Amino acid sequence: MSRVRTAVLISGRGTNLAALIEAARAPDYPAEIALVISNRHESAGLAVARAAGIPAQIILHQDYDSREAFDRAIDVAVRVSSISLVCAAGFMRIHSEWFVRQWEGRLINIHPSLLPAFPGIKVHERVLQAGERISGCTVHFVTPELDSGPIIAQATVAVLPGDTRETLAERVLAEEHKLYPQALAMVASGRVKLENDRAIFRDSSTDCSSLRHAPL
Ligand code: GRF
Repeated sequence: MSRVRTAVLISGRGTNLAALIEAARAPDYPAEIALVISNRHESAGLAVARAAGIPAQIILHQDYDSREAFDRAIDVAVRVSSISLVCAAGFMRIHSEWFVRQWEGRLINIHPSLLPAFPGIKVHERVLQAGERISGCTVHFVTPELDSGPIIAQATVAVLPGDTRETLAERVLAEEHKLYPQALAMVASGRVKLENDRAIFRDSSTDCSSLRHAPL
């Protein structure tokens, strides 16, 4: 079976990266994590990649004078490694429109809310402040507008009385670690595709694997 060569873009601790690497150890997983790129020297995720024997590169955004110039450097690095799919996993840079167009349908991201609610940063604080009873996470195709591309998969998490930003973040993160590998598998195997700005699911009438509900 040929597996889809996938790059993961990170900025921080890399727990989603670790979940993707773990899932990709299964011989029948349709993607291979073939490259990791961080825009920060101190990303703990770099060590996660190296421990798994995956090439890890640092491309510092501050070395480039525009968003697009930085993205072009990433583009060169992934193409040199014959990458076909790119996953952003805690990558704290907004992509240029140029990069998004280059990788349209092959660039996905995970966000710790039930999009389209709560895009952007400080998600869990805002969820708690708004008094939401349900939160969760979303994997979506990346489009030029931040955190608003077509949704591939979502998981829900109950917001519990007494939750703090930390406790809610921890429960959402545990779901992210299950959802992202499922969503990447769906994209890599062609079970979902981006077409005319929509996520199109093969066998959508019977396939509920893009929805997860965390038990209370
Ligand atoms: C996750 O919550 C992800 O949804 C968000 O950034 C965080 C990254 O965490 N985009 P990690 O680096 O994967 O641990």
